[in-house]
Amino acid sequence: MTEHTTRVDVGIVGGGPAGLMTALLLKRRGISAAVIETRTKDTIHRTQRAGILETATVNMLVDAEVGSRVLTDGHEHEGTVLSFDGEQHRIDFQALVGRSVWLYPQNEVFYDLANAWECEGGEIHWAVTDTQVHGVETAAPRISFTDAAGQTRSIAADLIVGTDGSRSMCRKLIPESVRTDHFISYPFAWFGILCEAPPTAPELIYANSELGFALISQRNESVQRMYFQCDPDTDPESWSEDAIFDHIQAVLGTEGGVQLKRGPIIEKTVLPFRSYVCDPLSHGRLVLAGDAGHTVPPTGAKGLNLALADVRALVPRVEEFITELRASESDRAGSDRSGPEGETPDGEAPSVETPEPLRRYSRTALDRVWKAQNFSYWATNLLHRQPEENSFTHRRRRGEFDAITGSVHGQAYFADSYTGWSD
Ligand code: DHB
Repeated sequence: MTEHTTRVDVGIVGGGPAGLMTALLLKRRGISAAVIETRTKDTIHRTQRAGILETATVNMLVDAEVGSRVLTDGHEHEGTVLSFDGEQHRIDFQALVGRSVWLYPQNEVFYDLANAWECEGGEIHWAVTDTQVHGVETAAPRISFTDAAGQTRSIAADLIVGTDGSRSMCRKLIPESVRTDHFISYPFAWFGILCEAPPTAPELIYANSELGFALISQRNESVQRMYFQCDPDTDPESWSEDAIFDHIQAVLGTEGGVQLKRGPIIEKTVLPFRSYVCDPLSHGRLVLAGDAGHTVPPTGAKGLNLALADVRALVPRVEEFITELRASESDRAGSDRSGPEGETPDGEAPSVETPEPLRRYSRTALDRVWKAQNFSYWATNLLHRQPEENSFTHRRRRGEFDAITGSVHGQAYFADSYTGWSD
């Protein structure tokens, strides 16, 4: 079978929220894009992900005309509750920083973006295999893959965007001599459940006690999402329903405080924890966005929000790069030189420098990434129990908690970071 080749301005590896949002926003600026993804649309839609969207994320979805379901099915939360040893403190986002967050699962954001891209006739290949990215250090990068029907295909582009998640293959195309991998792991994980019960409380509750961390979140009027800290190699089946609810209730406190609403558990998963940043996020004709370039621990739900902040930083720089490229191509065509610029005698494209707009993207995106890394790391350490703790460690953490909840300045720090800084 012969290879089928298409040509676009930008080839996108990874059809999650970052890849799809990039494709949609580029198309609105007259830049063509094609997306490939190894999973099926249905698999991504059905995979539970975090549920909190920052104000800027919601604004971005609304501005891109994919926000109608967030606004109808999502729930605006004007605050959140921090609980320590059963004692609760509300952080009032609106009063403190004039912003809210929206409870709307990331897998639904994905679904809205995928439907919008497909409705607009955007090129997307789901469930592809054998993906390879070629020539990112040249002016003629290309993606090759086998589509779901078994056809081998190739997408030629001026730029490749790698939005292929935390196990990114694109990232590995940035040579180790150029790339710094900043990484830490944590000695715990989250045990996540979905259960059929109405919300325990109107807002989310982030809780810590000597038993460690728990989070009470929601999905809708009849399904709740909850998490608690566990050992990274916990077998989800080793915990019974009663043991799970009793443990979460114990973290929330058993006397007086919040009474957990219990119901049949319909999903149990263990979520790994790590912090990772790839620096730089651009190399030659490749840029990384979202989890491909950085991973945060889930405390504070920054992952998707950060991915879409990358896209906000990226799209104007891609437009600048493509505009400059087209201008230099038409200059060359006008100056009557034969052959594409700089082609070597054997027809191979020579290597190119990373274009300045793409270097700028990396710098801008990483500034925000590090702020979010800091917040996710800090909130994780504030709210989790370390394996080796003693009375000092727990009491010190209580001091830190009081410093946050006990003053308007501490509360404002939490509210500002949680609801998301302006660009
Ligand atoms: C959810 C997940 C998070 O990591 C978080 O900080 C808040 C909410 C959720 O899945 O609802």
